[in-house]
Amino acid sequence: MGETLLKVEDLHVEVGGKEVLSGVSLEIASGEVHALFGPNGSGKTTLISAILGFEEYKVTKGRVLFRGEEITDLPPYERARRGIGISFQRPPTVRGVKLRQLVELCAKGDGRLLEEYARKLNLLEHLDREVNVGFSGGEVKRAELLQLLLQDPVMVLLDEPESGVDLENIALIGRAINHLLGRKVEPEADKPIKAVLREKRKAALIITHTGHILDYVEADRGHVILEGRIACRGNPREILYTIKEHGYDECFRCFGRAD
Ligand SMILES: Nc1ncnc2c1ncn2[C@@H]1O[C@H](COP(=O)(O)OP(=O)(O)OP(=O)(O)O)[C@@H](O)[C@H]1O
Ligand SMILES: [Mg+2]
Repeated sequence: MGETLLKVEDLHVEVGGKEVLSGVSLEIASGEVHALFGPNGSGKTTLISAILGFEEYKVTKGRVLFRGEEITDLPPYERARRGIGISFQRPPTVRGVKLRQLVELCAKGDGRLLEEYARKLNLLEHLDREVNVGFSGGEVKRAELLQLLLQDPVMVLLDEPESGVDLENIALIGRAINHLLGRKVEPEADKPIKAVLREKRKAALIITHTGHILDYVEADRGHVILEGRIACRGNPREILYTIKEHGYDECFRCFGRAD
């Protein structure tokens, strides 16, 4: 196992005066991709928002460490500076700011990369439009990835990167995520995609309901969150299969086996 990048310890988080997370612990090492499953309202978005440190998510107990450093009380921009990136489930529309202006900040002056990634994500024409204004669901998700690719974080938190995205564009998003993670993708006869680690450094936590993105990005570990607690951990494909076959009720039975 590589260096531990992200460590979440017994995290309790309150939002709008209500406890949403009640003792979540999680550890992600460099090179690893973890999938996070859970029903609507279980606390998935709250977890990654608290890891990024957004103000309305109040940590009442526990802590968040990144590369061994406690970051629980740091503002979001300090966490981003240390190498944590996020793609939002529902990012805001930003009138008056063009996508190009936003991604230029992420690109740190590398205009060549900006054009190349925008072309790969079919977003060249969107660069001169206001951020997310009138973007389709799939375009919003690709614009999030464009920012992340240019920001080049060490740890990415992806909140439903494939929701509302058509199958062809899920493949495109999958390639972009693999690129982001430094994973080389090679097709193989018996599997749609095989992801091979080029450099075992970057890590991801991917929230997904359908698991479609996991056909393109190989996940190493899965977690199920129920009512603000991790109810089950294990092989992400097995977890997904169980949820599809038996629903989330079955996940409660994993409590005893969770490590
Ligand atoms: N700003 C807020 N004010 C009040 N309640 C909130 C706020 N943000 C989240 N919540 C509540 O916290 C709970 C968890 O929300 P969260 O967005 O983390 O769920 P989720 O697991 O991401 O769900 P989904 O699959 O629908 O995206 C929900 O009951 C939600 O209504
Ligand atoms: Mg959510």
